Amino acid sequence: MAASTIEQPTANNVLVRLRGITNRFGRNTVHENLDLDIRKGEILGLIGGSGTGKSVLLRTIIGLNKQQNGSIEIMGVNMDTATEATKAKVRNSWGVLFQDGALFSSLSVLDNIQFPLREFTHISPALRESIARMKLHMVGLPQDAAPKFPGDLSGGMRKRVGLARALVMDPFLLLLDEPTAGLDPVGAAAFDQLVLTLRNSLGLTVCMVTHDLDSLYAICDRVAVLADKKILAVDTIPKLLDNPYPWIQEYFKGPRGRAAAFGKGVA
Ligand SMILES: Nc1ncnc2c1ncn2[C@@H]1O[C@H](COP(=O)(O)OP(=O)(O)OP(=O)(O)O)[C@@H](O)[C@H]1O
Ligand SMILES: [Mg+2]
Repeated sequence: MAASTIEQPTANNVLVRLRGITNRFGRNTVHENLDLDIRKGEILGLIGGSGTGKSVLLRTIIGLNKQQNGSIEIMGVNMDTATEATKAKVRNSWGVLFQDGALFSSLSVLDNIQFPLREFTHISPALRESIARMKLHMVGLPQDAAPKFPGDLSGGMRKRVGLARALVMDPFLLLLDEPTAGLDPVGAAAFDQLVLTLRNSLGLTVCMVTHDLDSLYAICDRVAVLADKKILAVDTIPKLLDNPYPWIQEYFKGPRGRAAAFGKGVA
């Protein structure tokens, strides 16, 4: 388990508070009366079977998907009732790495990274470029990657460019949707360590959707389990191991779960 400095839950250490969230697409109810708290400074893993609504939940947090019911509070700001100006401030304070990376294939790496600065700030082009180059460095990419196009990069490098873009507005909240999917184990472990370093050095709060058990063991302080349309449990892995819910038992104690636990000396 990652060393955690997370305090006990109090009203003040909750960065994102979801209450009673319901999401429906036609007759498909994806979330029903879902509650979740993301605590300041934690790395929270979000797991659940394919199609259970992990990506929809991230999209709901950032307002790309409007919930039918329930409330979303970020830093104490109710994202449905606050003024536009207040909501805009909160919106500029998160960074997102989407499941498919979502880089613009016709833009260079540097232009992809500085895209949010161009859209949401009045920063001069020269300063935008310096900030983008700094973020490139921050995610461990060489400066000669700057003029390249996404199609010229490996999958791991593209993920890092996506992360650099997610960091470009200096967010306090980082939402990552399966950031290590498709990476080889060495690349995935390096990406995990990068996320951990960023959290530790910048004090970010991270919510990371993942199917990667190694990532959960390596960097997550707590893990939230999405099943039966709600967050069924959210806890440290040792505590989740005692949760009798069959999917949780199968997930952590099936062959892949045992292998990941063995690697961490938990099994
Ligand atoms: N815009 C949309 N319109 C209609 N249905 C949608 C929409 N977005 C998502 N869904 C449905 O919501 C459900 C949850 O999808 P979601 O992509 O959140 O799953 P997921 O847990 O992220 O799965 P995976 O692990 O495969 O990424 C699926 O049944 C999906 O078809
Ligand atoms: Mg998804």
